[in-house]
Amino acid sequence: MPDQSMRGFLSMVERDFPDQFVRIAEPVSHEFDITAIVFELELSGRSPIVVFENVEGFEMPVVTNIAGNRRLLAGALGIASDDLPAAFQERCQNYIPVEVVSNAPWQEVVFEGNDVDLTRLPIPFHFEVDAAPYITAGQITARDPETGVDTTSFHRLMLKGKNRLGVSLHSRRRMYIYHQNAEARGENLPVAVAIGTHPFHYMGSMADSYPTEVRKYEIIGGFFGEPYRVVRCSTAGIEVAAGAEIVIEGEILADVHEPEGPFGEFTGYASYRSTENVFVAKRVSMRKDAMFHSIASGMSADHLVILGISREAEIRTTLQRSLPNVTGVHVPLNTAGALTAVIGMRKTEEGQPRQAIMTVLGTDSFVKCVVVVDDDVDIFNLSDVMWAVSTRVRAEEDIVFIPGAMGFILDPASHPETHTVTKVGVDATKPKGRDFAERLVIPDEQRARVRTIMERAGISL
Ligand SMILES: Cc1cc2nc3c(=O)[nH]c(=O)nc-3n(C[C@H](O)[C@H](O)[C@H](O)COP(=O)(O)O)c2cc1C
Repeated sequence: MPDQSMRGFLSMVERDFPDQFVRIAEPVSHEFDITAIVFELELSGRSPIVVFENVEGFEMPVVTNIAGNRRLLAGALGIASDDLPAAFQERCQNYIPVEVVSNAPWQEVVFEGNDVDLTRLPIPFHFEVDAAPYITAGQITARDPETGVDTTSFHRLMLKGKNRLGVSLHSRRRMYIYHQNAEARGENLPVAVAIGTHPFHYMGSMADSYPTEVRKYEIIGGFFGEPYRVVRCSTAGIEVAAGAEIVIEGEILADVHEPEGPFGEFTGYASYRSTENVFVAKRVSMRKDAMFHSIASGMSADHLVILGISREAEIRTTLQRSLPNVTGVHVPLNTAGALTAVIGMRKTEEGQPRQAIMTVLGTDSFVKCVVVVDDDVDIFNLSDVMWAVSTRVRAEEDIVFIPGAMGFILDPASHPETHTVTKVGVDATKPKGRDFAERLVIPDEQRARVRTIMERAGISL
């Protein structure tokens, strides 16, 4: 039976990928140090899990960057990193009903009523622009008051007081709709927030298109290949991951809005856009030795790798239906893991790149730029992609614009009121059947030969 907790994942990484696990015993401040260290590691080309054992002023350790490394996520699934989008696509369609268990370690310590004090948690202040410390790894679970079906998803939570958090539901997906449905009945929305869950929970919670009656927990079960174990908490029969470290129960208020943000978002910008909702905590439960999980915010790999994989999986699924000659899909992290899609194709007919552009833009509202390249171009190497764009594109023929399209509220270039954007498609494939300049290549045998010469000359590569 796989260990479905965050701890289970940490043990696997510490055992199988020891070089990707870092413990910092040096004292650090919860203000800015934690996220800044993840960014420093990224700048040096590393993305290990980091455990901060000594956060000044707090007893609880902080764990971060558990989802910033494709190798570790692939390791948990037992696959190669390149197969992540295909596995994501396949697991997201393998719904497995949950197993409700009666007890969970997070029920060991409970604070209720006046004893609730969220300021005692080591909630990091991520960027100087942030309005307050933010819980970034809070999986909120709620049931739709109309249908009873539940969902679970990350939403940023701004620390406002001992029992008060600001919350933004800007993705406007199920959680937003459930809250609207509760508001229409004049009711608050009961929710539970699970902090410290396995990265498969993170992955399953990012699933996008699935039937409304399906529970996200059933999708998460698909990632584990067995029922996801949940425990019923005291709030409105809501079920919460049994493996969680900390659970905060309460409600998102109806018809109450307060300033929330700014917050350093995954776009790499401070975001001032928010639905400005308010969450009031009534009960906090945790393991005796709870660890606080935080996701490095801003444009960090921790924030973007799974988002990018989920976009690649979604786009790949749709493209495969109509264009089997598509050879690959890449949503690069440095386009906020969502805003640009690069499509590789073995073109057999003119018009196919434009068909791919329309399909991608029709599939994914996040994507605002689609670039289609031939299969001799490495879609994972952006300098190769830019070379193709620079040398194969005739702007007047190969670039299409779609003004007034649905954009993403956190994209700072989207319209301030409507959030619409102009989407762009770039066909960077060579024209078919016409002579086109021949690409310069150095054959593999020649490369092998010069490597031997260089080795003999003492030049190491
Ligand atoms: C780390 C992280 C933080 C996120 N924060 C928010 C947020 O603050 N507000 C929001 O609406 N969506 C946020 N999202 C996106 C939602 O979690 C995502 O769109 C999810 O699929 C929505 O699920 P739902 O259908 O249950 O609402 C975040 C995603 C990640 C990975």
